[in-house]
Amino acid sequence: MEIDREQSMIRPPLTLDKAIAVIDMGLRTVFSQPTPSRPYPQAESSDETSLSDKERKHAAALMRVNHVGEVCAQALYSGQALVSRNPANVEALKEASREEVDHLAWCERRIEELGGRKSLLNPLWFGASFGLGVTAGLLGEKWNLGFLAETEHQVSSHLGSHLQQLPAQDHASRAIVMQMKQDEEQHAQTAEHLGGAVLPAPVKLAMRLASRMMTRTAYHL
Ligand SMILES: [Fe+2]
Ligand SMILES: [Fe+2]
Repeated sequence: MEIDREQSMIRPPLTLDKAIAVIDMGLRTVFSQPTPSRPYPQAESSDETSLSDKERKHAAALMRVNHVGEVCAQALYSGQALVSRNPANVEALKEASREEVDHLAWCERRIEELGGRKSLLNPLWFGASFGLGVTAGLLGEKWNLGFLAETEHQVSSHLGSHLQQLPAQDHASRAIVMQMKQDEEQHAQTAEHLGGAVLPAPVKLAMRLASRMMTRTAYHL
């Protein structure tokens, strides 16, 4: 993977106000209730009485995993936008990030409806993902966008697996996951159209392994 050195020389400096904005965003993502800009996805049926306790607990754990994914998305996007040198790409990252706020809010609301709780490790997930986002951003625009596209592809595929695992009668969770999956696919396409490079196979594999570790941990914690 060749680093885009020429462009890195004109990267805007990291100023104190940018650092404060990131810390503020991290605290809001982890500790406060986000406000979605789009309506809560509507389920085809609102009958929840058919969910057993075991199914409800399982669905809450899956939605906790998805919520963690969205905490990571907020951190990744802000890390990438912080060091990106291309204003058009920064704007695209911010736009996608706004949709991720909707996902974050919807997952949080659904977890509450199911009687579950958010991950206890959210500050850790945010910090690690922010570091990854900054690292991807420092490698240059095409790798930054390529990392984003691959992340979105993997998230979309992961959400597809949740549609298989969620109880069939949990229409509310399924409606949220379906809308999120559609958005993540759109985010991947946007990153590819902006010039994202295809990542080397070992990098994709490492990302899949890290994501598996995260999802398995978040299911319980
Ligand atoms: Fe998302
Ligand atoms: Fe996304």
